[in-house]
Amino acid sequence: MITRIVNAQEGLDEAVSLIKNGELVVFPTETVYGLGANAYDGEAVRKIFEAKGRPQDNPLIVHIASVSDAEKVACDIPDVFYALAEKFMPGALTVVLPKSDLIPDVVTAGGNTVAVRMPDNAVARELISRSFPIAAPSANRSKHVSPTSAAHVYDDLNGRVPLILDGGECEVGIESTVLDLTSGSPVILRPGAVTAEMLAPYLGITPGSGKVIGTAKSPGMKYEHYAPTAEAYAAEDAARAAEFYDRCVQEGKRPVLLFTDCHAAELGARERISLGADVDDFMHSVYSALRTAEKTYDVIIVEALKGEGRAASVMNRVMKAVGGKTV
Ligand code: TXA
Ligand code: MG
Repeated sequence: MITRIVNAQEGLDEAVSLIKNGELVVFPTETVYGLGANAYDGEAVRKIFEAKGRPQDNPLIVHIASVSDAEKVACDIPDVFYALAEKFMPGALTVVLPKSDLIPDVVTAGGNTVAVRMPDNAVARELISRSFPIAAPSANRSKHVSPTSAAHVYDDLNGRVPLILDGGECEVGIESTVLDLTSGSPVILRPGAVTAEMLAPYLGITPGSGKVIGTAKSPGMKYEHYAPTAEAYAAEDAARAAEFYDRCVQEGKRPVLLFTDCHAAELGARERISLGADVDDFMHSVYSALRTAEKTYDVIIVEALKGEGRAASVMNRVMKAVGGKTV
């Protein structure tokens, strides 16, 4: 199969036809790129699992174009969903709801719940509104780092998908927050840019009241390693990172530091890929930096951010990328 990368706006008509014909389309969202198929078409959705090499027991997110679309994919939707939707949709929040019978089992890995998200990308929403709700995981090969540009997708899926809609770099840079509303009290299954602190007021929880939203694991968290192909570590401070870097060089390896600019002086002339100036820059650029680093270097040393909120969300992904290894 020939894979073409086309400007998102220019490729939209073709993308709509492909989705309507039961084919796959890669589309941009503000979090990461998605590998989409018609969510109502079980045969089309099966192609997603094949193209990614994804285990069949890991359910997909269904992407919608408007809040009212939720009723086309879910049922028994609680009021709290609409309160959250008003504030966070479109956006980087996925909500798990009871599944509608219209959604085939392959989408939800046989489960009776469905994950629903409205992406904050005009082309993505137009693609959906002109076709169907779209089931889509991140558009990487299973277990690799999620893609934040069309070129990343091409590196992983060339020959496996007909069309990649190029919408430029994803603004957010890590996958959406997954919030489960089907298990009694709300549970964050995957942390993201929309944090527990931001969600709390809409879930009837006062921030700082001592009551926290619990975290459990989404089915996918046991598979997804978000891992680069090179050996990778997290470093709790720049001094330790520099020391480890120097040791790697002595051993004849080629290391690289993925650090924010505030550590530039401490790291001196050592090779570094910048993760920008703050937490949001870090989140935006870390996947891209991991993909750049794995192509050229043997050892990747990533800054470990401290703190709650978005810093903790991005560290959730970094610790997976490094397989829990720290220096
Ligand atoms: O930002 C994102 O969420 C991107 C863009 C493309 O929307 N999508 C994405 O999809 O990251 P994926 O498949 O790579 O990750 C979806 C996560 C997995 O951890 C999966 O197990 C979980 O959501 N999930 C999906 N459906 C679920 C359900 N019904 N119940 C619990 N977890 C679910
Ligand atoms: Mg993924």
